[in-house]
Amino acid sequence: MHRRPFDRNLRWIIGIWLACLFWSAGLLAAENLFPYGVASGDPQTNAVLLWTRVESVQPVVRVRYEVASDPDFRQPVASGEAETGPARDYTLKADVSGLSPATTYYYRWSLEGNKSPVGQTKTLPERTNRFRIAVVSCQHYGAGYYTAYRYIAQDAPDLLVHLGDWIYENPTYGSVVARPDPVGVADDLPSYRAKHRLYRTDPDFQQALRSIPVAAIWDDHEVQNDYSGKGLLFYNPARLRAAYQAYFEYVPIRAQGEFRIFRSLRIGDLCELFLTDGRQYRDEDIWHPAFFPPRDAAAEALAPGRSMLGAVQRKWLLEGLARSRALWKLIGSGDMMMDLRMNGLPISVDQWDGFAWEKEQILGHLAREKIANVLVLSGDTHIFSFGELRFQGKPVAKEAGTAGISSPSARVERSKEIQEANPQIFFTERDHRGYVLLDLSEEAIEVSFYGISTVLEPNGERVLLKRVRIPRS
Ligand SMILES: [Fe+2]
Repeated sequence: MHRRPFDRNLRWIIGIWLACLFWSAGLLAAENLFPYGVASGDPQTNAVLLWTRVESVQPVVRVRYEVASDPDFRQPVASGEAETGPARDYTLKADVSGLSPATTYYYRWSLEGNKSPVGQTKTLPERTNRFRIAVVSCQHYGAGYYTAYRYIAQDAPDLLVHLGDWIYENPTYGSVVARPDPVGVADDLPSYRAKHRLYRTDPDFQQALRSIPVAAIWDDHEVQNDYSGKGLLFYNPARLRAAYQAYFEYVPIRAQGEFRIFRSLRIGDLCELFLTDGRQYRDEDIWHPAFFPPRDAAAEALAPGRSMLGAVQRKWLLEGLARSRALWKLIGSGDMMMDLRMNGLPISVDQWDGFAWEKEQILGHLAREKIANVLVLSGDTHIFSFGELRFQGKPVAKEAGTAGISSPSARVERSKEIQEANPQIFFTERDHRGYVLLDLSEEAIEVSFYGISTVLEPNGERVLLKRVRIPRS
């Protein structure tokens, strides 16, 4: 049969249209292979850990990474391949070494021509007299937007220190709802992974992780509110392991033995940062909820031997503090270390006050060994705080607490009575979420407490709440 020219043209048009459709679908796929962005973490003077997650359904995927000293990758310095698959939820880590100290590097991942966004990172210096650290914690996704991270990226710190509550296992936080969390409660491996993916969709969080190396520790909500590792290992070990596995898959943290996260970062002779794990090895909790325990539970919190860190980590910390030759000793802690008491008894037994004997071991060690210039950095409370740690009435260290990125504050520390009973806490601020910025030098640490005007909607403004200067002693 004779085919009419119109039919032939129509076939051509449909053919070209289909080709365009597949081509544009391919382009779309190319843009979406790395939807969770890129990140870097645990920098050393010659190495840094790179992270991403690739969209795939293959049993094995090999993804290429490139590191360069310029953002256009004209001066490549390292490249390689990392392997992933469903066993690690398609997350990728590459520990790139052979780098130069105090140097900015650019990196990207690629699979079959699809490229990730370009990340920027920086190695630690061998010597320096200036270093800037942004300190964050507590980022409940449903309770607020991560606007603080936009300002952190503008501050261009050398390091982002995350003190825990990177995710929250629960989708809501009281009655505060800024945005929906469709994942629900996380309590097994698929749901913890889904929670990590959800949290990584925030564009400001992605931007900060793309441009600043992070050093992270966990607190409780990466697993379950106020949990103790020893307790959960007995009652629900599967949940504990699932949460820890998902954390290691999604957070750019270097593996150093199964699930060990306590470690130190040395920033020349200027600073050593001791990052602690206050959850995994902690003794069973003694009171729920943790606030205002009755007398006998509060007395138990003071019992000799009661430990948050466990004996191995405590020894590591005490020895590390004593031998460190760095001027400033920073201790990263998920939970507040300063006393917060009424009539001599703890107000919250989930914080360091619930492990008073071990706190005394650490503070007594600072006094006996004459270890000066110690600053504890803490999260968890959802308020800003600044004050000092005392041993037998004498100050041995300072502490700066960050309110966190988005999690609402409990109003418990608001009462005047509690403030008056705790003169070692010089400053608290409960009305803003935000972050703490540290500018370290050989003379002093300048601590800036930055609040965000609102996290209930995007685009809150940054407010400087307070700035304090800690001169070296
Ligand atoms: Fe928190």
